[in-house]
Amino acid sequence: METKRLILRKWTEEDAENLYKYAKDPDVGPAAGWPPHKSIEESRAVIRDVFNGAECYAICEKENNQAIGAVELKLKGHTDMTDREDECELGYWLGKPFWGRGYMPEAAAALLQRGFEELGMTTIWCGYYDGNQKSRRVQEKLGFQYDHSFEADLAPLIHEVRVCHASKMTKVIRKMEDIHA
Ligand SMILES: CC(C)(COP(=O)(O)OP(=O)(O)OC[C@H]1O[C@@H](n2cnc3c(N)ncnc32)[C@H](O)[C@@H]1OP(=O)(O)O)[C@@H](O)C(=O)NCCC(=O)NCCS
Repeated sequence: METKRLILRKWTEEDAENLYKYAKDPDVGPAAGWPPHKSIEESRAVIRDVFNGAECYAICEKENNQAIGAVELKLKGHTDMTDREDECELGYWLGKPFWGRGYMPEAAAALLQRGFEELGMTTIWCGYYDGNQKSRRVQEKLGFQYDHSFEADLAPLIHEVRVCHASKMTKVIRKMEDIHA
C-alpha cells in the first residue's frame, strides 16, 4: 500500500535492526502495552512471531523503504475488542524521531480504507490507555467515536492493569435510494 509519503509493506527479518532502534525506546512500547525491546534478537523474534498477522504492516518513508513503525488491523482471534469476523482492531506505533508529522493518521487512514473496502469490515475498533493523549489525538483525527472504557490486564507483556478507552468507526452503507435522492 502507498500513501502520499509512506509505503506500508510486510515486515521481514531484515527489519530487525531498525525495529530494535525504535522499539528499545521506553517512550514507545509501554504506551502501547508492551515492554521496550532488549536486543536485536528479541526484535527479530517479534517480527517472526508477533508482526506476522495477515494485516500487519511496516511503515516506511518512500525515500528509503526503512521500517519506522507498525500499523495493523488485528483480525478475529487476535484482538479482545471483538469476536466478529466483520470487525477488527486498529493498532499502531511509530519511532519517536518521526512523531508529529501526521504519519500515523496518514498510514492508518489507508489501512482503514482497506479494512472497509477490501476486507469487508463493518466496524473497526481502536483503543488507547488512559493518559495517552497522542494516541487519543490520532483517533480523533481519523474520526473514531468514543464507545466505552474498560480495565485491561496487560499481563504477561506488562504487569499492569490500565484503563483502556475504546472507540469505533463504522462503515457507512449507503442505500441506492439515498444515492439517487
Ligand atoms: C501515537 C503515535 C502513533 C502518534 O503518531 P504521529 O504520527 O506522531 O501522530 P501525529 O503526528 O498525528 O501527532 C498526534 C499528536 O501527538 C502529539 N505529538 C506529536 N509529536 C509529539 C512529540 N514529539 N512530543 C509530544 N507530543 C507529540 C500532538 O498532540 C499531536 O497532535 P496535533 O497534530 O494535533 O498536534 C506516536 O506518538 C506513538 O507511536 N506513540 C507511542 C506508541 C503508542 O502510543 N501507540 C498507540 C497505542 S494505542
